[in-house]
Amino acid sequence: MNLTYYGHSCFGVEVNGKHLLFDPFITGNSLAKNIEIEKIQADYILISHAHGDHVGEVDVIANRTKAKIISNYEITSYYDKKGLSGHGMNFGGSWQFDFGKVTYVVALHSSHFPDGTYGGNPGGFIVESKEGNFYFAGDTALTMDMKLIGVRYKLDFALLPIGSNFTMDYFDAATCAEFIQCNKVIGMHFDTFPPIKIDHEKATEEFERNGIELLLMKIGETIAM
Ligand code: NI
Ligand code: MN
Repeated sequence: MNLTYYGHSCFGVEVNGKHLLFDPFITGNSLAKNIEIEKIQADYILISHAHGDHVGEVDVIANRTKAKIISNYEITSYYDKKGLSGHGMNFGGSWQFDFGKVTYVVALHSSHFPDGTYGGNPGGFIVESKEGNFYFAGDTALTMDMKLIGVRYKLDFALLPIGSNFTMDYFDAATCAEFIQCNKVIGMHFDTFPPIKIDHEKATEEFERNGIELLLMKIGETIAM
């Protein structure tokens, strides 16, 4: 699996030869100004919820790549009306795709599109594949529901929000890593806006105290997982 960071909560994951793109938001992120949107590959676009900082580039990338949108039913219906194909899901449900199995799981947050359209319940994704398993949490608070993920899945890594104000902070995210029993975390949803700027060293130390590795990827960086 290859993991590429496009800033904020946007990641590309190459798994079993398919390109998964999570929560595309690039032009609205001044830190991601060097990312060339027209070069981003996508067979699937996974959307955690409908807020502008997670759906910014869905239309432009889905129109170019013909990627299939995977999200909650309300979000895929919204894009269906724009002529973009999707696979709608809801909490607790799983579907076997050609790259692996996806489960849509609970996130404690809110969800509406920038135009005011209701965006269903916000969620996260568990991806299980021959190349490994991971959790993309979306925007969420720390919740006891995360303990169920630790009971049900064997995760190789997790993408967790750490920036506070709109989501859990890195203290809660370190507790989340314990709940989900995962010792490798990639941070997201930090530094993009003034209210979510964090001290990288302190965040890394907080995870280390719990024996968990925190990776803060550079925007544009690709790593093998
Ligand atoms: Ni949000
Ligand atoms: Mn957000």
